[in-house]
Amino acid sequence: MPVTAVTGSASGIGAAVSKVLSDAGHRVIGIDRANADVNADLSTPAGRDAAISEVLSQCDGKLDGLICCAGLGVTSPDSGLIISVNYFGVTTLVDGLQPALEKSEAPALLIIGSVAANQQLANQDAMVPLLLNCDEAGALELARNSGQPHIAYSASKYAVTAFARQKAVEYGRKGIRINVVAPGAVETPLHKASLDDPRFGEAVKNFVAPIGRAGNPEEIADVVAFLQSEKASFIHGGVFFVDGGMDAMVRSQAF
Ligand code: NAI
Repeated sequence: MPVTAVTGSASGIGAAVSKVLSDAGHRVIGIDRANADVNADLSTPAGRDAAISEVLSQCDGKLDGLICCAGLGVTSPDSGLIISVNYFGVTTLVDGLQPALEKSEAPALLIIGSVAANQQLANQDAMVPLLLNCDEAGALELARNSGQPHIAYSASKYAVTAFARQKAVEYGRKGIRINVVAPGAVETPLHKASLDDPRFGEAVKNFVAPIGRAGNPEEIADVVAFLQSEKASFIHGGVFFVDGGMDAMVRSQAF
C-alpha cells in the first residue's frame, strides 16, 4: 500500500485529494493546522520541522508520495503569512521529506500552484528572487511592507512553481517525479472567502473560466491522483492547468 503525505488535508482540495487517494488504496498521512494525522503550523520553521519529524515517524522513514496543498488565499490577514505557508511551507517539506521519498520504488511529488502564478506579472515581482534564494526574512519584510496580499499570493505561486521545475533535473536522476497542478477557481472555503471579500470579490466574480463555472475539488483531486499514479510514469517537471480554460483565455500564446 503506497503511503502518501498530503498537506492541507482538512479542507477543500487537500481533503478531496486525501479521499481520492484513500479510495485508490493509499495510506494517507494528512497534515494540517488541526483535524489531521499530523497537526502542525506550516507558517513557522518550528511547525514545519515538527511536521517533517512526525511524518517521518508515521511512515517509518519511507514515503511514496507527497502532495502539497496547504495554502492561504488573498484574504489572509497578513501578506507575510501567505508567503510563509504557500512557499516555505512547501519547499521546506519537499526538502525535508526528500530522503524518505528516495526510499520508495516509484516516488512522486506534487505541488498545488495556481493560475495566479502567470498573472499580474508575478514572474517579475521583486519577491520571487528572495523566495528562490530562501530568504524568508527578506521576503516577509517585502510582503508586509507592500501590504498587497494578491501580489504576495501570485508571487508565492509563481516561485513555488519555479522551485518545482528547478528540481526536475536533480529529482529525475534520483527517480522522484515532481509536477505542479495549477487550478483556476475551485469551490472551496478559500475561494468563497475571496468572493465575499469587499476588496477582491467583484474581480473574482467577474473572472470566469471559458467553461463557464468554477471547478469542484474532486476535479482537481482526480488529476492529482492520476499524476501520482504509475500511469503517469513519464510525466515529470510539468505544470498542468486544471482551470476550465482560464490560462488559455489570458495567455493563448504562452505554453
Ligand atoms: P482551503 O482553505 O479549503 O484549504 C487549505 C488548507 O490549508 C486548510 O485546511 C488550511 O487549514 C491549510 N493551511 C492553511 N494554513 C496552514 C498552516 N499554516 N499550516 C498548516 N495548514 C495550513 O483552500 P483550497 O482552495 O483547498 O486550497 C488548496 C490549495 O489550492 C492552496 O494552495 C490554494 O492556494 C490552491 N488554489 C486554490 C484555488 C481555489 O480557487 N480554491 C485556486 C488556485 C489554487
